[in-house]
Amino acid sequence: MPVITTKKELDQHLSSLPKNSGLGLVPTMGALHLGHAALVEKAIMENRFVVVSIFVNPTQFDTKEDLEKYPDTLEKDVSLLAGISGDILIFAPTADEIYNHKVQSKTYDFEGLDKIMEGAFRNGHFNGVGTIVETLLLLIKPDRAYFGEKDFQQLRIIKKLVEKNNIPVAIIGCPVIREPSGLAMSSRNERLSEILRKEASSIYKILQAAKVEFGTKNVQYVKDWAVRQFENHPDLKLEYFEISDIDTLTPIQRKKPKGKYRAFVAVYIGGVRLIDNIALN
Ligand code: PAJ
Repeated sequence: MPVITTKKELDQHLSSLPKNSGLGLVPTMGALHLGHAALVEKAIMENRFVVVSIFVNPTQFDTKEDLEKYPDTLEKDVSLLAGISGDILIFAPTADEIYNHKVQSKTYDFEGLDKIMEGAFRNGHFNGVGTIVETLLLLIKPDRAYFGEKDFQQLRIIKKLVEKNNIPVAIIGCPVIREPSGLAMSSRNERLSEILRKEASSIYKILQAAKVEFGTKNVQYVKDWAVRQFENHPDLKLEYFEISDIDTLTPIQRKKPKGKYRAFVAVYIGGVRLIDNIALN
């Protein structure tokens, strides 16, 4: 399966495709797992051609340590994708190729969507994500681009990016894929010991129980209740638990009759930072 590393080669491949035949893009940072595979499978179903990008984007990491720890498993990733379809085009450029030797993010106005939750705890993260996703969308010009609800805030911000910059692409959200224990699949799970991985499955159990509480209790009660549940698990260090409107992502104080809400969580376990979220209604 060919792995394209330069914009020039990418252009050549893309211009050889028949026009208007349906092009899907799945942006990733590699270390692929079944969560990524689900996005790729959906893209294949809905498009004639699919590009999967594999690029560990330096500008979205807020610490050098986190970037350095990010796994590089290109060979394994290529064989996982080959197992899904022989028709996928893999684009795995270097940072210099993408950033023209100037590794720096643009500054975006995401109208506050980037100031809360992940944005509040990971400085500059969404400017980095915006920069790479906009670059990929403009280079590849897909009809559809696929993102997981695992990173629900990222998905919402990318929809805003596309809308504000009039980029002609449909942004498709895909449900969270979980391990049998309920733990949301993530390349970071590999860094957990067997015991901590089991313990990490409590994150989703607490989210599910919070959803049940949300059915009958007020917002502050559910938040306090959830914080107490995390306190009962000494290995889980809660960074935030928020209940937000699914469109504005603004944390809410009280439910509105037609409101749609999700609970969002970030947790440290054994030095590994995990995020998850659940639809509440
Ligand atoms: P990465 O973490 O590799 O994820 C790539 C895509 O896979 C994202 O859209 C993410 O939401 C989705 N994904 C990851 N785990 C998932 C799971 N368990 N279930 C469903 N979808 C899942 O997110 C990024 O990379 C980067 O920020 C990127 C968008 C590629 C920009 O660099």
